[in-house]
Amino acid sequence: MTEPRRKERVDAAWFERLYAKDPDPWRFATSDYERRKYELTVACLPRRRYRAGFEPGCSIGELSRLLAPLCDRLLATDIVASVVERAAAALRGLPGVRVEQRAIPEGWPEGTFDLVVLSEVGYYLTGGELDEVIAAANRSLEPGGHLLAVHWTGVTDYPLDGSDVHARIGRSESLRLAVRHDEAEFELRCWERR
Ligand SMILES: C[S@@+](CC[C@H](N)C(=O)[O-])C[C@H]1O[C@@H](n2cnc3c(N)ncnc32)[C@H](O)[C@@H]1O
Repeated sequence: MTEPRRKERVDAAWFERLYAKDPDPWRFATSDYERRKYELTVACLPRRRYRAGFEPGCSIGELSRLLAPLCDRLLATDIVASVVERAAAALRGLPGVRVEQRAIPEGWPEGTFDLVVLSEVGYYLTGGELDEVIAAANRSLEPGGHLLAVHWTGVTDYPLDGSDVHARIGRSESLRLAVRHDEAEFELRCWERR
């Protein structure tokens, strides 16, 4: 079987077109796969309480809703303005949650975090952009803080595959692998900042 030709970049316009055609293109709100993956994501976090969480690529905020109760403060961001508005509406009233339009790596926020979650967002980046994200995460993660990454492992035409994303993060000497969970369809890793 021939593998699909990879896109060199997946930019904001690509996601904007996707969301214009369908408000929930991946069925985040209704699919059993997503629900179970979200619950496992939360279950795999080594701590029950975080001071400051950052979730780039939050889409409509389905995972953010589960992360919010564990974090004193949670910053959820997405590159697409319309989904940021929807996430903000969905998460309104949850204490400590802020939703902003930002792209990674260039819009990586100032400040420090003890939790960063990359859920199905890393493979849209180029290798160089992902390396910038890993460097930014290393700079902003407090010692003992966690970087959790979870990605679908099927064949994509995105710049990277889910397992490439995890392999690149795993090369970082300042991160120690704390949790590993593999399934047929996705893999999850959680690293602790040394
Ligand atoms: C497949 S969805 C994953 C949504 C959510 N993290 C989840 O697991 O349910 C990827 C999301 O990442 C956003 N995104 C893609 N590239 C991004 C970037 N460079 N910076 C911020 N958000 C990005 C897209 O707009 C989209 O909403």
